[in-house]
Amino acid sequence: MIKYLDLKTINAPFQHAANDVLQSGWYLKGEYTRRFEEAYAAYIGTRYCIGCANGLDALTLIFRAYIELGVMQKGDEVIVPANTYIASILAVTECGLTPVLVEPDINTLQIDDALIEAAITSRTRAIMIVHLYGRCAYTDRIGDICQKYNLKLVEDNAQSHGCTYLSPAHSLTSSLPKQTGSFGSAAASSFYPTKNLGAFGDAGAVTTDDEALAEVIRSMGNYGSSDKYVFDYVGRNSRIDEIQAAILLEKLKTLDASNARRKEIASLYINKVDNPFIRIPKCHDRDCVWHIFPVLCEHRDRLQQYLQDHGVETQIHYPIPPHKQRCYKEWNNLSFPITEQIHAEELSIPCNQALTDNEVNTIIDLLNSFTPA
Ligand SMILES: Cc1ncc(COP(=O)(O)O)c(C=O)c1O
Repeated sequence: MIKYLDLKTINAPFQHAANDVLQSGWYLKGEYTRRFEEAYAAYIGTRYCIGCANGLDALTLIFRAYIELGVMQKGDEVIVPANTYIASILAVTECGLTPVLVEPDINTLQIDDALIEAAITSRTRAIMIVHLYGRCAYTDRIGDICQKYNLKLVEDNAQSHGCTYLSPAHSLTSSLPKQTGSFGSAAASSFYPTKNLGAFGDAGAVTTDDEALAEVIRSMGNYGSSDKYVFDYVGRNSRIDEIQAAILLEKLKTLDASNARRKEIASLYINKVDNPFIRIPKCHDRDCVWHIFPVLCEHRDRLQQYLQDHGVETQIHYPIPPHKQRCYKEWNNLSFPITEQIHAEELSIPCNQALTDNEVNTIIDLLNSFTPA
């Protein structure tokens, strides 16, 4: 069986980092957390990184902190992509803010920047972009809209560690590409085990250049306290632990190499899969670190069964769009046809550093010989 993601193989070389922490006898708010936060901020290219318990908390703390700072108020609107993992939207509603869903572009599967302006109202305070599947969702047009309407840009960077973007306006100069996680006013990363930079459990982080925001977030994730037993905010307990920080510090050193292998496999799929029933994602215009390699197929369930029967594990990201979930009953009658098409047709093909060349070739051959009949 070709596994969708063989975490045992991927994580074996990093087990010593967990042992180092066990030996140290210090498990929270220690040296590994400090070093990881410093290394991740430097990698992303922001002044601050605050480790959190998970990616959902990282996103939620960003909005909580904006409310605390008076930048947003309950009832304000945040523009979000209609096709995303539910956590992006949970963070907004948990803070009493109102998500305004915007359709993606079927070619990029990212929020359609041409539709954003029409969704802006006098209550809009932020645009959240989600670099879904590991592909950069930022465009210069989105940056311009944020400036024009004085909106915060919040990035959900859960799926795209190591992804970069070079503005076409800068491509002829010596400017370097920027990392996703450094475009917005603030960004949230998830280090859920399956992520490109994945921990051995839950972990997340906020990256930002905004000092005031960073201070509030750090305090709010520590019960609302900066000084021991003094509480400035109604906070929560959301900290990264030393074991995860030590593992992530080691894995960060190999992130670019593992992303390069993902890109190599993705380009083999893009160049070698040629089947009229399977729509392969193209990535000419934007960088992508292929957290997920999403193909679209009208006969998705049959394709999944066929691959399963031939020994290839796949996944679906995601079977039900947020606006059709029971937890958001009030949206169930809304129609987002492109989002619904993606959720009906998407199939995630294995694409990660644990795959051998032989396995990749087997998958390519299977995809080429699939017929729905
Ligand atoms: C796009 C997106 N946003 C947010 C999250 C939430 O991260 P976590 O699982 O670490 O809470 C995830 C992942 O699980 C995700 O894929």
